[in-house]
This record gives sequence, C-alpha cells and structure tokens, in this order.
Amino acid sequence: MTTATISEQHAKLKELMERREPLCDELARRLEKRGDWTVLHHPLIVSVPYAEEMNAAYNDGLRQKKAALNKAVADGNWSHVMMLHERAWRLNALIEYAPLMSDEAFWEEVAYVWCDTETPYVNKSVWVRLFKVKRPGRHGMMDEDEQEMLARMPREITVYRGHDGRSQNGLSWTLCPSKARWFAGRFINLDRRRPIVTKGVVGRDKVIALFLRRDEFEIVCEARHVRDKTEVDDAVAIHSSVSKLYQYAVRRFRLNKLRTDHGPRHWSQVMRNVERIHAARPDTNLAIGRAFAVLHDCCREDEYGDPEHGERAAKWIVQMVLEEPQFSKALDAIGMTNDLFDKLLTAIAGHNRGEVSTDATIGMCWDADRMDLPRVGIVPDAKLFSLPETKGLLWR
Ligand SMILES: [Fe+2]
Ligand SMILES: [Fe+2]
Repeated sequence: MTTATISEQHAKLKELMERREPLCDELARRLEKRGDWTVLHHPLIVSVPYAEEMNAAYNDGLRQKKAALNKAVADGNWSHVMMLHERAWRLNALIEYAPLMSDEAFWEEVAYVWCDTETPYVNKSVWVRLFKVKRPGRHGMMDEDEQEMLARMPREITVYRGHDGRSQNGLSWTLCPSKARWFAGRFINLDRRRPIVTKGVVGRDKVIALFLRRDEFEIVCEARHVRDKTEVDDAVAIHSSVSKLYQYAVRRFRLNKLRTDHGPRHWSQVMRNVERIHAARPDTNLAIGRAFAVLHDCCREDEYGDPEHGERAAKWIVQMVLEEPQFSKALDAIGMTNDLFDKLLTAIAGHNRGEVSTDATIGMCWDADRMDLPRVGIVPDAKLFSLPETKGLLWR
C-alpha cells in the first residue's frame, strides 16, 4: 500500500467524521433501545452505542459493504459473505445463503460460523437443526488434522463442559479439563453463580465434530448423548493442590525468576502443553503430567548448563515426600498413587537426556517440555517427540 493511499484514506475518514447527515432509512430502521443505550444493529453494521455524529461513516460503510456483498455472492465467495456480516448476524446469513452454496462450501461455512460464535447456547436448537441437515459431506466441517485426531480417539470419549448450572446441556464440550475450568471460571463474578465442570462420556459415533481451532479441543455433540454425567467437584481441589506444589517448587528454585527461561513461566507453558497433549492422547496420565510440569525444572541451578538437574529434582521430590506431609498431601490430592509416583520420578530424572520414550505418559511429559523450546530460540526436532500427536499440536 502506498503512502498516498494511506493519506487518501485518512482524508476520507476525516471527511466522513466531519460530515453531518441523517442516517439512511435502512439503518435507521435498525436502531434499538437497550437500557440507557441506543444501538445500531444491522446485519452489516453494528455499533454499540450508536453515535449520531458517525452517521456519514455508517452510511458509507453500508454502501461499501453492500457492494462487496453483491460481488462476493456473485463470485460464490461464501467465506467472504460470512465475514462481511457482523458476528451476531452470521448465523442468519448462513441460513439465508445456504441454498446457494455447494455441499462442500455449506459445511465449511457451518464450521466457520460455529467456531466464530460466542454464544452457541443461545441458538442451540437452530444449531442442532443445522448440524442435522441432510447434505452430504458433513465430515468436511473438520480439516484433515481434526478428522485424523477424531478417527484416532477411543470409541468412548471423555468430555468436559464448563458452565454455571443453567447451560449444562449445550453442544460444546471439550477434551481438555483445563479449558472446561476456564469456561466455568468465566461465570465467576458475573452473577455470582457457581462455576461447574461437568464430565461425561460420549460415543465417538455421536460426535458431530472435533475442532482444534482456537485451541479449545472442542467436541461438538448433543448433551443427550453424553452419558455418566458427573459434576467434577475435584476441579477446584486439584487446582489448589497444583498451586501448592508450585509454591514448593518456587521456594526451591535458585535461579532469578524474572530472567530465567526455566522458571515458573516455562512451567506454566509445560502445564498447558501437557493438557493439550493429554486431550489428544487420553491414554496418558494427567496427574503425572501436572506434577511433571511444576516440578521438573525446579532444581535447576545453572541457566545454561546443568545436566544433573533432572536427577536432582527426582531426589528432592523423594526427600520432600518423606519430610514434608503437606507436599505429600498435595501430590495425593492430584491423584498420585505409588505406581504413578515411580513413573513421575522416571520422567523427571530423565527429562533432559535428549531421549524419547515408548511410555505414552513419560512421552507426553518430555514432549510438553520440548514443545516450549522456541522460548530459547530452538526449533524442536520432530524426531525427538515421543508421541506422533505432539507434532500436529506444535504450531497450532
Ligand atoms: Fe529441564
Ligand atoms: Fe523444562
């Protein structure tokens, strides 16, 4: 783009902001009163609040968007058609233009609009009908990675949903407990309702789609197909026990916490990686992964070279279990049994030897650590990932 073009745009914007004119009839019909505010809510122009001084800009915006929309419809460019609509209107646009789309384009746009919507629960019955439309190629909602991951999932899939008690029967579930906790946490302080994580099991054949977009590990399925639903009341307890382990690890850590690449910031990233890998590989153990994330580097004593730090951490953990009952209790609370504890020590002692593991859980721990190598400017070597799933998650 040339400087002249940018200046021209600035001049046009200035002129629009200074010009005073009435709102065109089409937009004026879309003014709504919401509480103390007046809002403009047209499928192509939304403004909250509406400001009369912006009329010229609204009118001009509508003219331009309508021209672009006509062209996109004529070209069959449906993703552009959807994007030209304001987010709150994209579901309406999808329904309006669906008869003109090919089956392939239809399912792609269903996926796009679904992943783009912020309130799927509000239009749940419309979405259920859309997902059940008898048009071939529904699997085309998912990209190749998503299709492959769903095909690899077990026949019975454990899913989670974070909610506030009023929307437990939504269509959007996740493979990732931390994501469900995050969604549940959104309700804290909003209207003082209790955040809840529901856990259940859904048959793979009942899954409408799996989406890896937005890093939500989303499973779309009807709540009536999710069996054995229980409220995960240990979600908060696990969170506080992991925090306790984290506090012990921070106390043990000798490097400068603000400057190091191996401290708490890295541990948090490894934790996120563990949960993402676990979502893709449910046969891995999350208790080991969580403990690994917060403890594996806490005994590092040299920022650049310290080949003993894995072994040192494993010995320190054993010592802590023997001497510090609160540390042991925190490990118990996240689900660490004796068998698992041995595996945790193996994972931690060996994490910096540059090896791969045939054990899925140890592989998950080491992969989660290596996934964070870009923080020190190193591109992870795909050959050193123990699990094939990790490579697909790295740059997503
Ligand atoms: Fe390390
Ligand atoms: Fe590490």
